Amino acid sequence: MDADRRQEIIATQKPEIPWANEPSMGSYYTEAEFEAVRAEMERCNHPQIGFNAHNDTSREFEEKFAAWCGAPHALTVNGAGSGLDLAVMALQLEPGDEVIVPAVNFKAAALSVLGQGGKVVWCEVDERTFQADPADVEARLTDRTRAIYPVHMNGMAAPIDEYLRIAEEHPHPKHGPLKVIGDAARSCGARLHDRRVGSWEWTCVFSFHTMKNMTTLGEGGMVVTQDAEAAVMMRKIRGFGGDVWGTNYKMTNVQAAVGLVQLERIDSILDERRKVGHERNELLAGIPEIELPYVPGECWHTYYLYTCLVPEEWAGEKRDRILQLMREDYGVPCVVANPPCYQSHPFLAANTDYSDLPRSEKLGQRLFCVPIHPLMSTSDNEYICASLWETVERVMGE
Ligand SMILES: Cc1ncc(COP(=O)(O)O)c(C=O)c1O
Repeated sequence: MDADRRQEIIATQKPEIPWANEPSMGSYYTEAEFEAVRAEMERCNHPQIGFNAHNDTSREFEEKFAAWCGAPHALTVNGAGSGLDLAVMALQLEPGDEVIVPAVNFKAAALSVLGQGGKVVWCEVDERTFQADPADVEARLTDRTRAIYPVHMNGMAAPIDEYLRIAEEHPHPKHGPLKVIGDAARSCGARLHDRRVGSWEWTCVFSFHTMKNMTTLGEGGMVVTQDAEAAVMMRKIRGFGGDVWGTNYKMTNVQAAVGLVQLERIDSILDERRKVGHERNELLAGIPEIELPYVPGECWHTYYLYTCLVPEEWAGEKRDRILQLMREDYGVPCVVANPPCYQSHPFLAANTDYSDLPRSEKLGQRLFCVPIHPLMSTSDNEYICASLWETVERVMGE
């Protein structure tokens, strides 16, 4: 994109929607979702049916989601946070047990480990993919390690095949092969070697929060697992337990009805996201200084976020200057997703050892994400790209 074209786009194509990153609604609803809400409300609005969450609609959503992502068992939950808690509860940690969690991450996975009395062992992430680095995971194993707990970062699958190999090669002395738990809150539909996330892991958790790739009226999530016993245990915990502790982590039927429609549409919504992502890759080809998202050949990226990197020399101040100019001068807020999560969470900082994570700390000062959404028009995408390019040229000249 040459300078004249950039100026022209910025002067004439300011988006009507002030795209925020992450947009407050990550998916979008059609008439079919509105109809599904009405139909489910009418169906349940009866003294003999009611809104008890464990009805046919929830079960149908679970079965269809499990089949879609290629896992034998699925449970609806009221959010990925509760789903991650369930996954770690099913691990049945003992005092001193360790779980390896990437530091460049959302806070939920680490919190779920601490919540169950486990020890979080942070690991570094790969500098190009932002996924837990298998070599570093391996280096941090001890005979107390029970699980490897990667996040599928920002819409792309982590190298789960690598973690599974490590898990097999380094069994826990008492519990056998380590468990691999995936946090796919941001990566519903992402694929590795043409298999969806959720089909690989011992247990994997999805979010249907309003910002995510598919959504169920604001909150919601799904836990999938390969392990029939873990599925039974997590179902019990979700509904006040029995021979185990439990509480209420249920999703409502109306959300499940919306989820069923979103599930029918998710592949086309993801195609739309990918189209915007690919178009942006072309629009930004040749931009100075900035590394665009790196997608390994075996990955099918959903572009939940469009994650860029500034050069090492620009870490911190110059990266932040880009964010400032983008926001103030072009009206395009970008987000840093994520710096090492203990940095903004005092409880995580107080309860974990983060003394040896130089790569993650540096990366947290270099990465930033540019707004993306399945409904973004080419014109809006051009405006955002022209703004970023102009911003970078300005920062280069400062
Ligand atoms: C990576 C990751 N894990 C977990 C969560 C928590 O999801 P929920 O809001 O559905 O509890 C989020 C939400 O932003 C997330 O991004």
